[in-house]
Amino acid sequence: MLKNELDTPSLILDLDLFEQNHRKVRSLAEAAGKKLRPHAKTHKCPDIAKLQSASGGCVGVCAAKLSEAEKLADAGISDILITSPVAAPWKIARLPELDRRSPGLMITADHPDQVRALARTAAGSGRRLRILVDVDPEMGRTGVAFSEAPEFAGLIASYPSLELVGMQCYAGHLQHIPSWDERRKTDLRLMEKAAAVFRRIRSAIPSCRIFTGTGTGTLPADLNIPELTDVQVGSYGFMDSEYLAVEHGCGAFLPALRIVTSVISANHRNFATVDAGTKAVYVTPGAPPRVIRGNGFLPGWEYDWSFGDEHGRVVHPEGEVLRPGDRLEMCVSHCDPTINLFDVIYGCRGDEVERCFPVTLRGCCR
Ligand SMILES: Cc1ncc(COP(=O)(O)O)c(C=O)c1O
Repeated sequence: MLKNELDTPSLILDLDLFEQNHRKVRSLAEAAGKKLRPHAKTHKCPDIAKLQSASGGCVGVCAAKLSEAEKLADAGISDILITSPVAAPWKIARLPELDRRSPGLMITADHPDQVRALARTAAGSGRRLRILVDVDPEMGRTGVAFSEAPEFAGLIASYPSLELVGMQCYAGHLQHIPSWDERRKTDLRLMEKAAAVFRRIRSAIPSCRIFTGTGTGTLPADLNIPELTDVQVGSYGFMDSEYLAVEHGCGAFLPALRIVTSVISANHRNFATVDAGTKAVYVTPGAPPRVIRGNGFLPGWEYDWSFGDEHGRVVHPEGEVLRPGDRLEMCVSHCDPTINLFDVIYGCRGDEVERCFPVTLRGCCR
């Protein structure tokens, strides 16, 4: 099938660009002596997780939530790290079975109550669960404070049914700082503190070997932290308007993920209506989709969500003429939640659709 024959709106992944992005991350990580643990929360496709793993240099895959991890396990994927703390008792109760089905499962925790519940469940099931301390990167979202992390790690290690295997510190609030220099400096200050905490924990508890974190925005800075063992990058392969708007310390990754949309009404001099509205492109204020031709953004073309659920407005320079049925490609606002709006990503090479990636983890927010 040809890309031009896809119904619209459709989500496509330019495979050449995705592979280039992946090769770039892989070689940066390899040069710094780090492993990859790509985050599946971005693409939500087990088949893409398998492609990333098959390319080498990976030690596992990340899932944001238990339901994502369960779907990855259904697809035969092992070595999954759940990067959000698992709190509800009915979720903790499912972990031993998931661990049985998917060897190498790891779970993050940030509260003594969770640790006690995890330890009880693990002891009752006869399976030892592998735990990472989630450390708060001074953002406040999840994690224990740096100062409390060593004691908390000791609590985890005190339970025979749990194995403390590492520490996670993911600085989500730094990833999109526009200036690379400011992002790099802020990130290094933070990650050096995290590294000191990791050294303390590791010297007291030798099984604590993993120090994981990092997103696409802080990757080039984090690679300078000697203690960091692996990077959890997700967006790098796909990219979006948010990430393409910030400076990158290693040169920008390429806009591999795109939405193909069609003009459905074109009765105005300088704008047209396309068939992708808020149901097809996640609304991220300040980071609208951008119209792409080839690999470059078209100057003077702007998308906005002002036409609502079903329709988008594309403003274009006067003199450009659009007609109903014309197709446009746009990079999306924010890749993760936009992918979550689709059942399939079409993997395209040039003009051809090479393969389909079912978005199997779609809706797995539990
Ligand atoms: C815990 C965690 N690790 C890694 C990532 C991947 O970050 P990015 O998509 O910026 O590469 C995310 C994304 O939100 C995350 O929440």
